[in-house]
Order: sequence, then C-alpha cells, then structure tokens
Amino acid sequence: MTDATKRRTEIAIPSGEAIARGAAILRAGGLVAMPTETVYGLAGDATSERAVAAIYAAKERPVFNPLIAHVLDIEAARAEALFDADALALAQAFWPGPLTLIAPAAPQSRISLLARAGLGSVALRAPSHPAARALIGAAGVPLVAPSANRSGRVSPTLAAHVLADLDGRVDLILDAGPTKLGVESTIVACLDGAPRLLRHGAITLEAIEAVLGRTLGAHEPAPGAAPLAPGLLASHYAPRAALRLEARDAAPVEAALDFGGALAGSTAGARLDLSPTSDLVEAAANLFAFLRTLDETGLSMIAAAPIPETGLGAAINDRLRRAAAPRGTP
Ligand code: TXA
Ligand code: MG
Repeated sequence: MTDATKRRTEIAIPSGEAIARGAAILRAGGLVAMPTETVYGLAGDATSERAVAAIYAAKERPVFNPLIAHVLDIEAARAEALFDADALALAQAFWPGPLTLIAPAAPQSRISLLARAGLGSVALRAPSHPAARALIGAAGVPLVAPSANRSGRVSPTLAAHVLADLDGRVDLILDAGPTKLGVESTIVACLDGAPRLLRHGAITLEAIEAVLGRTLGAHEPAPGAAPLAPGLLASHYAPRAALRLEARDAAPVEAALDFGGALAGSTAGARLDLSPTSDLVEAAANLFAFLRTLDETGLSMIAAAPIPETGLGAAINDRLRRAAAPRGTP
C-alpha cells in the first residue's frame, strides 16, 4: 500500500446526511463502500481515472479486469452504451435489479477507459438497493463498483466483511446490514445480436431466456483466447481453506458447508447449513458469509454438500467451483 491509498475508514448507516457526505467524498475522487441488493460494492466516480485507479489499488485488482458502472435507469445507461433490442428488453424487465448488461460503449461515453480496461464495451447495471440509488443520485455521475473485497477473495455481504478486507483503503462504508440476494448480478453481453451469458448470478438463466424468447448462448472462449469477461478467472472467490465439492460426508478435520441437512450426520469439525429447507434463495444469501465464517474456524478443508444446478443453484455452484479451483489458475 502506498501512502496515496492510505485512508481513515469511517462506517455509517446510510442516513440522508451520510449519503450527502458519501457523494462529496465521491466527487472529490474518494471511495465509498455501498450496499447493493447483491453484495457490497466499492464505489468510485466512473468518470474519474484517478478514482478508478484508486479502486484497483484498494482491491489489488489486476488492471485488465473491467468494472461495472452503476446508473439509476435505462436513460442514464443509454448515455454510456448502445443498447440493441435485446439489451433494452432485458433492462426493461429487470432494472432496477441484479442484471448487468455489457454493450458497445457509446461514442460520448464518459466511463473512464481504465474502468473499461481498454475494451470497446461497457458494463452497466441499475441497482435496486435504496442506499445505492440515493448515492448514485447524490453523486450525479455513474459509479463504478466492483465487489468490495480484495481481489480473489469472497464477496462481502456485510459491512464487517468490507472492513475486514479494506480497512484503511476506503473512506466511508455505508452499513445497511446484510445484503438481500448474496450473489452478484447476472452478466449478459449484448454485443453482436447474439446475447451471451457471461456470469451466472442473482437472476436465473431461465428468467432471462423467458424475456428474450429464446435460449442464450453461453460464452465459451476459444482455446488460448482471453475470456470475454476478463474477471472470470477459474480461481476466484477463494477462501484460505481448500474446498471439496459434492461432499457426501465430512471428517472432523473439515468444516461442512451444508445444504438441506445432507451433512448433518457427519463428524465435521464445524457445520453451517446454507438452507436446512433446501431453499436456493436462502442458500445464495448465506453463501459468502458462511464461507468466511467456516474459513475463520481455521480448519484447512471446507467440504461442500451437493447443490442442485437449477435456478439460483447455477450461480451458487459457479462460485463454489471457482472457490475450489487451484489457486492462480487462469
Ligand atoms: O452484483 C454485482 O454485480 C456487484 C455489485 C457491487 O454491483 N459487482 C460486481 O462487480 O460483482 P465485479 O467487479 O466483482 O465483477 C464485474 C464483472 C467482472 O467479471 C468483469 O470482468 C466483468 O464484470 N466485466 C466488466 N466490464 C466488462 C466488459 N466490458 N466486458 C466483459 N466483462 C466485463
Ligand atoms: Mg468481485
């Protein structure tokens, strides 16, 4: 950490006064952690290269990994990007909400080049969380906000998670309690008339396909090619402990990440059940917090029970597979 990035971190509930202070911090190029309906985001002025650089520094994020610009509505998004009919239909169906659209950057787009990582496209999302909306409105500019964790770590669903990762690296944390959805937004690229799913997320693939009236191509990069969503490295969301997937049993040296009580009869050293009633919405909301808590037990292996691949299960399993991937895998 250089002196330029060292800050005093303040935590406040998102009152009108705290939102106004946050907006002033953002306009001055500072960083504010804000709650969204998915996870906490580390927000900065999307039009300021300096603010964006500070976000990369605070997260220790590889600079090739572009950021999502958060706006209030479709009109604000279309000032930054060229929406085709599919993008428009998806935004109308799911905004404000946990959907990110990747579209060609508009010629007049103000989103910083650094935030776009040099790509000709831009990622946009209109969040529904009232505190995020108030902050975007008060700042008067689009806000880039990656998840407010250090790069490669588990996404934060509580202000305490943000503090654990970014204390001294963010000016203000707006604490609105646990985030509702717990997994990040679904990312769909609308670049060439053939919409593609880049990241499973809080809106299910089924719901997106229902709006588009057809099935969505999944993105499969050509061998050796850079992934279309550069942030989608195999090893990501990594707890310190190693992760064992599809566990049917767990040993005393393991911490069990359970689902539907499948590992209740095991001898696991610790056990947390994402949803004793096998509710995938509840499981998604608990996922990142439970990974952190199990990591903190100090047990060196987390054994994760099988989770169905349907609905939100696709996003949960995607995050678990990344957390389990060998570290440093591209
Ligand atoms: O729910 C969310 O989306 C949260 C909250 C805070 O809004 N944000 C979030 O941001 O998850 P982040 O930075 O952790 O993930 C953004 C993802 C990365 O995988 C990145 O590579 C991809 O979006 N992305 C951003 N711009 C892109 C672009 N122009 N083309 C392709 N992928 C892009
Ligand atoms: Mg992230």
